Amino acid sequence: MTLALQPPTLDRLGSGVPDRLAAPSDLRPRRPRPGRRRLGSNTGQLPDLPPHRELVRRELAAYAQRIRLGALVREHGSPLFLLDVDRVATQLLALRRELPGAGIHFATKSLPHPAVIRAVHGFGASFEVASRGEIDLLEREGVPIGRCLHTHPVKSVADITGAYLRGIRTFVVDSPSEVAKFAGLPTHDVGVLVRLSFPNPDAKSDLSSKFGVAPEDAPALVDLCRRSRLAVRGFTFHVGSQTTSAAPWVRAIATTLQLMRSLEALHGTRFEVLDLGGGFPIGYDEPVPSLAELARGIRPALAAVPEHVRVVVEPGRFIAAPAMTLITRVIGTSDRADGRWHHLDEGLYGAYSNIPAEDVHALVFAAAELGVRPLGDDAAERTARRVLTRVRVPVTLAGPTCDSVDVVARHLPLPPLADGDLLVSPMMGAYTWATATGFNGIARTPVVEVSAA
Ligand SMILES: Cc1ncc(COP(=O)(O)O)c(C=O)c1O
Repeated sequence: MTLALQPPTLDRLGSGVPDRLAAPSDLRPRRPRPGRRRLGSNTGQLPDLPPHRELVRRELAAYAQRIRLGALVREHGSPLFLLDVDRVATQLLALRRELPGAGIHFATKSLPHPAVIRAVHGFGASFEVASRGEIDLLEREGVPIGRCLHTHPVKSVADITGAYLRGIRTFVVDSPSEVAKFAGLPTHDVGVLVRLSFPNPDAKSDLSSKFGVAPEDAPALVDLCRRSRLAVRGFTFHVGSQTTSAAPWVRAIATTLQLMRSLEALHGTRFEVLDLGGGFPIGYDEPVPSLAELARGIRPALAAVPEHVRVVVEPGRFIAAPAMTLITRVIGTSDRADGRWHHLDEGLYGAYSNIPAEDVHALVFAAAELGVRPLGDDAAERTARRVLTRVRVPVTLAGPTCDSVDVVARHLPLPPLADGDLLVSPMMGAYTWATATGFNGIARTPVVEVSAA
């Protein structure tokens, strides 16, 4: 398996780690030995640090230097999101290379930031939208709305009418009640994709539990659309976010193509679109198969797609996650019954909202591990820190709100930290800034654009 580098964290890295320091040699990546328990065990043995974390650390350290991360924090303060739109282009290029011919509709919801929208638009890709607010954003950035897909399967009549007036011509339906809502629209230029449900309990978010019609019930829905003079342009599905195997796509493609063939034969019509949705994964605290490997599994299934059917994808996480790096700072330290706690200026109600919502865990690095000099650092302090980064202590990282669930990680082995120290999490672009709340009156973390070029 080719593994895509990307970040890990937190709870998963262990609870109950003995309160002792790991020796420098433990920082070297290595495979877990048979019979040896990993972090989280209570054996008193030293923790195994996964090679994945070390590989990501090296990449991130080099990146931090290139973007002059220390200087950025000195200028803009913390917490801070660093947005690198070159990474958006890199991910789009990878998709274009691995799934050639597939139309790309970026899932706006994953990172609805104007600079990202401009980067996706500049690349020549389009968008999927699900709300009036997302259409507003795209319009402001000069995106031609007529090329976008409106993918929300359940909308109000006002939403549908408004989206139509702004230019949307392709919507999604998954139930008879949704079909009825299109009655007032001119049907000659509006079409729908029927959302199919393919449950995938292995995905981080199984999006088929909330949306989609079962493939066996789809013919009746298509029939209803036809009787309602609503053109069915094709089918769409989402195999689940953070899907780490090609198999769910392969099964969904085969079933959908079979359905399309039988309905085309039955009604003497032709469908135009097969929409594979999003779901392409990112390595957070574990490596995931690379896009190249997943696409190698998916492409043979796509070979059966007829000429007249256009394949499209709706990637969100895959494009957005690598684009943002999060900087947080330790604002307080306390020793509790279960060990040392560091309180951060960001947490679950803010940038780390992807933890409770999606159960994904970005890696957290002490800035000192990356060679980033903290504020007011001098040569002597730097030397001391270099020594300190060769040991690790398990700490709990808490968010800044009053809520006791606001804990980013428990018993996470990190170099010794002090108030004011910086932490860095990569792969923090998807469903983070977008889903942050203002709980406790804490403002959304600002975003600054950076470039490593
Ligand atoms: C309809 C639709 N398309 C695409 C996406 C993007 O999914 P992902 O971020 O897993 O690529 C989502 C995510 O919720 C979605 O609901």
